[in-house]
Amino acid sequence: MFELNETHRLLRKTCRGFATKELKPVAAILDQKHLYPAEQIKKLGALGLMGVAVPETWGGAGLDVLSYAIAMEEVSSGCASCGVIMSVNNSLFCDPIMTYGSDALKRQFVIPFARGEKLGCFALSEPGNGSDAAAAKTTAVKDGDSYIINGTKAWITNGYEADAVIVFASTDAKAGNKGITAFVVPMPTAGLSLGKKEDKLGIRASSTCNLIFEDCRVSQENILREVGYGFKVAMATLDGGRIGIAAQALGIAKAAFEAAVAYAKERTAFGQPLVKLQAIQMKIADMALRIESARLLTWQAACLKDRGQSYTKAAAMAKLSASETATFVTHQAMQIFGGNGYVTEYPVERHYRDARITEIYEGTSEVQRLVIAQNALKELM
Ligand code: CAA
Repeated sequence: MFELNETHRLLRKTCRGFATKELKPVAAILDQKHLYPAEQIKKLGALGLMGVAVPETWGGAGLDVLSYAIAMEEVSSGCASCGVIMSVNNSLFCDPIMTYGSDALKRQFVIPFARGEKLGCFALSEPGNGSDAAAAKTTAVKDGDSYIINGTKAWITNGYEADAVIVFASTDAKAGNKGITAFVVPMPTAGLSLGKKEDKLGIRASSTCNLIFEDCRVSQENILREVGYGFKVAMATLDGGRIGIAAQALGIAKAAFEAAVAYAKERTAFGQPLVKLQAIQMKIADMALRIESARLLTWQAACLKDRGQSYTKAAAMAKLSASETATFVTHQAMQIFGGNGYVTEYPVERHYRDARITEIYEGTSEVQRLVIAQNALKELM
């Protein structure tokens, strides 16, 4: 049984209040207009939520990873787009620089980013490869004290608004995954341009685009850890990212569940409120069960990371469970709403659309199963 401490409970209350007051009322309009939530992200920064687990000396809130998961769930229940913007900045940008960057990189690329004054993004996938991350074709060739990057990166969340990117490029094509290096590149910068903004099914208030590198020069001082270590930086970073996306998926599921229960209490059929019908109660039971199970897995992965223990398998289990829960719960919520769930007057169709990506980005459900199987088999050896 998880015992949240006073800090966790207070954080949860603050984030829940913020989501109810500042995010829920605007989430539908941001989604419809594909509007980047600049004002809301600034407020998240003021609350310390753009660098939850970053130490205070480096501009963050100095809380633990469990706090991050709690905050992500609440923010995402108000607006899933705000959730992913926050998640990418926290886990895919600030976290690897804190872990693998020099103090100079932390000063330049963590402090203003964790404060929410600037925004980061993460560029691993390419048009020709996603799940097979080691197959990256983008190259970085040494030239004096710099590297020259060429190639195209795809599906970059926050790409349009970002002030810097962590990009993974091959510095030695023959070395396979051991030839990949991670660079921090400020944006805008000469030789780096943005592709078209993708028109997505869900999380439509967050931008997604290609990043095109054409003779883009970056200093060797901007390498994370060392040349050839980039694949491990990417994999370890995604382990942490998967906790964030699990929590985002939980937030989406929770929002759909709460909306469905409220509707089932109001709406009558066969002479009584829907909530009195056993068919609906079966759905409510399954939804509640899946949300609580996924939350336990998510919090377990966060606690393992907090304790400095291995959490690769736990994070993959959390993400797999929570994202499939979001798909299931939003589907059931739409069933409870019936036709009203299919129209934009109610929030459920948005939750249904937002849920879908959580099974795809930061590793598909199939990749999570691979990671779980590989780690489970290793444990049995
Ligand atoms: N932590 C640290 N190191 C790790 C690791 C981890 N979690 N997982 C693997 N490694 C290391 C291995 O130990 C191995 O090192 P050695 O060679 O020294 O032994 C090396 O990395 C290669 O490991 P694998 O052979 O297991 O690697 P693989 O090529 O078979 O890939 C994979 C495995 C799990 C499929 C991996 O490619 C993967 O996770 N793919 C999914 C990528 C992904 O999540 N992409 C999402 C991009 S971000 C995004 O979604 C956009 C956004 O903006 C939100």
